[in-house]
Amino acid sequence: MDFYEVIRTRRSVRSFKPDPIPEDVIKRVLEAARIAPSGSNRQPWKFILIKERSAKEEVAKLCHGQGFIAEAPLVIVACGRRIDFNRGDYMGDMSMLVDVSIAVDHLVLAARAEGLGSCWIGAFNNSALKEFLGIPEDYNVVAVIPIGYPARDAFKETSDRKPLGEIICHERFQ
Ligand SMILES: Cc1cc2nc3c(=O)[nH]c(=O)nc-3n(C[C@H](O)[C@H](O)[C@H](O)COP(=O)(O)O)c2cc1C
Repeated sequence: MDFYEVIRTRRSVRSFKPDPIPEDVIKRVLEAARIAPSGSNRQPWKFILIKERSAKEEVAKLCHGQGFIAEAPLVIVACGRRIDFNRGDYMGDMSMLVDVSIAVDHLVLAARAEGLGSCWIGAFNNSALKEFLGIPEDYNVVAVIPIGYPARDAFKETSDRKPLGEIICHERFQ
């Protein structure tokens, strides 16, 4: 599938068929995350794959009760290590958020290219998720991604974005 078609037609999918995802497909999607760039190539990420029903239900509960998460055949919890990496004194601790988000976006776009729907979940209880999943102290959860084949036609282009003229300026902030 053409790259631009992938990014035009990726949508947040919140309703999934129960069909399992073939292992070779999962592997390709994970590979897309694995090869993502990161600051100084530190790769401060870890991806927890959850397929077990009761675990998915608990994760959905800890994502402020977003029940549809448990309906996905696969839920990926993307974690990042607090690398305390000094990027010009600015990002520090937060630099892993940039790194892990890039990897998750690779993953989400690869999922779309495979005909899979996903939804980036940013609303969750980090400390409760850490405890439930045994995530070490120096890691935090960055995103929870339910993935599966969409229950209905989901890959539609959207017009729900600001126009370029509103988000681009030249030479100075305007
Ligand atoms: C950082 C981030 C956090 C998000 N958190 C949630 C969430 O907790 N629950 C949810 O249903 N959608 C969540 N979304 C999905 C957005 O609502 C969605 O991407 C946006 O409305 C645009 O729609 P689209 O993805 O279909 O293009 C999140 C997206 C991002 C990028």
